[in-house]
Amino acid sequence: MPEKESAVMKQPVPAHVGIIMDGNGRWAKKHFQPRSMGHRAGAQNFRTITKYASKIGLKYLTVYAFSTENWSRPADEVGALMGLFKDYLREALRDFMNENIRVRFIGDVGAFSRDLQELIAEVEEVSSSKTGMVLNLAMNYGGRAEILHAARNFAEDVRAGKFEPAALTDELFDNYLYTAGQPAPDLIIRPSGEQRISNFLLWQCAYAEFVYFDILWPDFKPGDLDQAIAIYNSRQRRFGGV
Ligand code: FPP
Repeated sequence: MPEKESAVMKQPVPAHVGIIMDGNGRWAKKHFQPRSMGHRAGAQNFRTITKYASKIGLKYLTVYAFSTENWSRPADEVGALMGLFKDYLREALRDFMNENIRVRFIGDVGAFSRDLQELIAEVEEVSSSKTGMVLNLAMNYGGRAEILHAARNFAEDVRAGKFEPAALTDELFDNYLYTAGQPAPDLIIRPSGEQRISNFLLWQCAYAEFVYFDILWPDFKPGDLDQAIAIYNSRQRRFGGV
């Protein structure tokens, strides 16, 4: 995918960036606050960075908001996160609409409460006409679960006689993923110092560049996104070639 120079930054921007929003809990601890306050600060920063990403001209931003494994956290923390999702999705309805951002959800959202699911459907519906940056919110998302979901759906189509098993190619499999029709991420950023993928976009990140930061997510600033993009621009991508 050709990269265009941002009208705001004097450097080209990748089309698709993924962010693992990590470090909310450690941020809360550092500030002698409960973990839920770390998530609140993280949610506020999610809003700031999303708007900035749209302003500098990213076409796709995918953020990891809740993994299939996050249900195993203490009930009060899961409850606090669900409350934040509701608050922020309501705000997103107002806020991102003005920014021409299209919001999509990737993951098994059927596991959320009825009212959260209704909000998710409303946000997707209302923002579907937006033509600017696509924001993928990964909620109850796991890369392995996504691949299994895609494989099952392909197997169903084989059973229905739509395809022979041998018809399966990379491109066809892409169509069964939550991100169908979107380019794969060029750059994946993980703040907080951890250096692992944690089940994020496993299929899609085959050739993504990774940038890690020793900054906790609530402290991650627009300038840090600029820096991650500068690091990305300094790398040579070879996609398995020489
Ligand atoms: C990881 O930090 C973060 C999460 C599990 C939740 C991410 C959620 C948000 C940033 C807020 C809500 C987002 C939206 C879309 C409104 P951690 O708790 O694992 O931090 P730690 O590793 O320091 O404990």
